[in-house]
Amino acid sequence: MVVGLQGAGKSTWVAAHLAGTHAVVSKDHWPRARRREARQQRVVAMLLAAGRSVVVDNTNASAEERAPLVAAARAAGVPVRAVWLDTPPEVSLARNEAREGAARVPPVGVFATRARFVPPSVAEGFDRVDVVRPGPPRTL
Ligand SMILES: Nc1ncnc2c1ncn2[C@@H]1O[C@H](COP(=O)(O)OP(=O)(O)OP(=O)(O)O)[C@@H](O)[C@H]1O
Ligand SMILES: [Mg+2]
Repeated sequence: MVVGLQGAGKSTWVAAHLAGTHAVVSKDHWPRARRREARQQRVVAMLLAAGRSVVVDNTNASAEERAPLVAAARAAGVPVRAVWLDTPPEVSLARNEAREGAARVPPVGVFATRARFVPPSVAEGFDRVDVVRPGPPRTL
């Protein structure tokens, strides 16, 4: 799963690194559905049972949100990895502001996620936690 604030660059990272190999699951794929959490769990379990590699692309901001996904991987007998897009909040906010249409979320949403955010840790059951930080600004 990827972990990070809105605008951190999770979906961009997934598209660049995992799109060819993994089924991408996100609650954003069905914004109007009820019980999106349960639906996501069902879809993930189904894909894993079918032998697919899966990446869950949500903010996944707290251990409570991540726990059912870690459990789903364990139940399927597959390794589970967190990729934390540790983009500074001000950069996430700026990237979000630059987005168009429905992709742009209200800034209060980014602040709310930051307020409850807990970095992923191997203590949660991840086999691996990777951290991706924006590189230094390039000079010409
Ligand atoms: N490494 C990067 N450098 C500069 N801009 C980036 C980078 N990664 C993503 N962006 C841009 O930042 C914006 C947000 O990226 P993206 O949609 O991947 O974020 P997200 O974490 O998936 O957000 P959300 O949680 O709202 O889905 C996009 O306009 C994207 O093009
Ligand atoms: Mg996204």
